[in-house]
Amino acid sequence: MVNSFGLFLSSALVLCLLKPVLTEPLNVGLESTQSRPMNTPERVKRALAKYNINDEKINARVRSAGGGASIELSSAYVDIEYLGYIHIGTPPQKFNMDFDTGSSDIWIPSMACGNSCGSHRRYDSTLSSTYESGANKTWALHYGDGSSVIGNTARDTVHLGNISQPGQLIGLVSKETAQFATDRFLDGIFGLGFPPLAFTGINNSIVEDLHWSGTIPAPIVSFHLGHYRDGGKGEILFGDMNADHFEGELKYVPVTIKKYWQVDLTNVMVDGNPILNKTLPAIVDTGTTLIIVPAYIAKEIHAKIPGAEYSPMYGWRIPCSFGEQTTEETIIFQLGQEEFPIPLRDFVRAKTSPSSGDVQMCYSGIAQANTPLIILGDTFLRSFYSVFDFGNARIGLARSKA
Ligand SMILES: *[C@@H]1O[C@H](CO)[C@@H](O)[C@H](O)[C@H]1NC(C)=O
Ligand SMILES: *[C@@H]1O[C@H](CO)[C@@H](O)[C@H](O)[C@H]1NC(C)=O
Ligand SMILES: *[C@@H]1O[C@H](CO)[C@@H](O)[C@H](O)[C@H]1NC(C)=O
Ligand SMILES: *[C@@H]1O[C@H](CO)[C@@H](O)[C@H](O)[C@H]1NC(C)=O
Repeated sequence: MVNSFGLFLSSALVLCLLKPVLTEPLNVGLESTQSRPMNTPERVKRALAKYNINDEKINARVRSAGGGASIELSSAYVDIEYLGYIHIGTPPQKFNMDFDTGSSDIWIPSMACGNSCGSHRRYDSTLSSTYESGANKTWALHYGDGSSVIGNTARDTVHLGNISQPGQLIGLVSKETAQFATDRFLDGIFGLGFPPLAFTGINNSIVEDLHWSGTIPAPIVSFHLGHYRDGGKGEILFGDMNADHFEGELKYVPVTIKKYWQVDLTNVMVDGNPILNKTLPAIVDTGTTLIIVPAYIAKEIHAKIPGAEYSPMYGWRIPCSFGEQTTEETIIFQLGQEEFPIPLRDFVRAKTSPSSGDVQMCYSGIAQANTPLIILGDTFLRSFYSVFDFGNARIGLARSKA
């Protein structure tokens, strides 16, 4: 969910914004890059704002993969966001994008954007022979926190690794609010949600269009998100899945509402005990950094981690040393009929300051918020290779392998 809701919201505001989120297109929020990589309540609020709730990003290089087209991803700000390069136009102009399953527009800054786009790369339509002005309409994405990007739509060729989609409808931004401008790494957002969330007016995802044109073998897009501790690399693969990056079989979870990649969180198991009384809606979102759950779930999970503590200022923190433990203990997220265990130590994120006494504390990958919509962001997706299948409206997940 990298979209745009990027501001600091009060808790009350988050609550108000939640309902609209469930019934309307959302967008993503970006994290301000100047903030430290952490899951403070402020950060969480910004994350939530995207769903009228909000959040983050990445870096990539291009590599070929069998059958589909892959782009290398790099984590930015210590696993806050994963970004990769795409090119647009003829000859190609390069952009560093956050591939976001929590929103559905593809947008980049244009030459019309002044200081509000910071140091981001800008697309120059006059330099592209494939730019189509016929699609030039006013376009805007407003996020729940008041952040926004505005500009005009256009069509041009989008290059993804070794494949291209001609005439793709994109948003050209002439004004961004500060949340976007301050992200040092990211130029734009590459939305991979379903078309009903889009503001550009696309009828189909670029993934479906690439499949129908015969460019990729299947209408799927797959993600591998690496841990910062292992180099922070990842891969997005259009049209195929990369068996080098997962173990065992993919387990498929049906999408319940085709806007976000929404699924049923049927339970959360701590120590084998189910802690949910009812199924909760959840979103699988590559554009959000954290797993965001209601407080009672965050509390139960952190109760399994010695020394974990919550403070309104820093959110949940965990002794960093816990990340080096070899405990095999897991928390199980049950989606639909399938179980997805995450090792407890994988919830340990970047170091925080100050420390708690002599203990170096790290941020937790789980954040709490009074949200009816669970967000399974990168903390979840680093554990599982993920295949977003537009054709069958389902998500395939298998244990990730570096
Ligand atoms: C892209 O590269 C991959 C791997 O080399 C290949 O399998 C695929 O056919 C290529 N796609 C196109 C459109 O050239
Ligand atoms: C789209 O139209 C607007 C309004 O006429 C114009 O200012 C802008 O330059 C056009 N965009 C491009 C990329 O030509
Ligand atoms: C979407 O479909 C409608 C109805 O067929 C059509 O009028 C519109 O031009 C399409 N939009 C795009 C972006 O292709
Ligand atoms: C779940 O149900 C049990 C038994 O009715 C109740 O005690 C508990 O508070 C409920 N938990 C939540 C989170 O609602």
